[in-house]
Amino acid sequence: MKILNLFKNKVKFPPEQLEQLFYAYAIPILKNKNMMTTKEYCQHGNTSCYLHSISVAYYSLRLANVLRLNYDLESLIKGALLHDYFLYDWHKKSKNHRLHGFSHPVVALKNAKKEYVLNDIETDIIIKHMFPLTILPPIYKESILVCLVDKICSIKEVFYFGLQKIYHIELKINLYTTI
Ligand SMILES: [Fe+2]
Ligand SMILES: [Fe+2]
Repeated sequence: MKILNLFKNKVKFPPEQLEQLFYAYAIPILKNKNMMTTKEYCQHGNTSCYLHSISVAYYSLRLANVLRLNYDLESLIKGALLHDYFLYDWHKKSKNHRLHGFSHPVVALKNAKKEYVLNDIETDIIIKHMFPLTILPPIYKESILVCLVDKICSIKEVFYFGLQKIYHIELKINLYTTI
């Protein structure tokens, strides 16, 4: 049965190893010039789009690891980091992004495709992450995870709680990306 393939007793990585894997796959994307500009764009509360993307990718990976899912680690991290790659400040009024909540997954996908080759999982993560605002639901376990974790991270950012760990991760990433 397909549902049984979701859990294949995939090895659960210890926290340090999981973090190292996260950095290995995330740093090349986070070093990107356009991605760096997202540090300037506020997402929720005082959290930038850059930090929000790191947060969603990191906690999606943590959750997949805890659940021992048989998942595509690289696609999960890449799709999650690019899920809000719309590259503008949505708080500033503009006729170009009047319906930001509905339209930004399409803009993010378009921007991501200009710079990366995306597989079906990564595409689904980006285009469906706003479900149920977007009508079609995510169909891969990686995109379902990101859709869920995105909402949890957004609530944490709006209400300023549980952000210490992600500030710590960002500090480490800053060290790696400025070398
Ligand atoms: Fe989004
Ligand atoms: Fe998001």
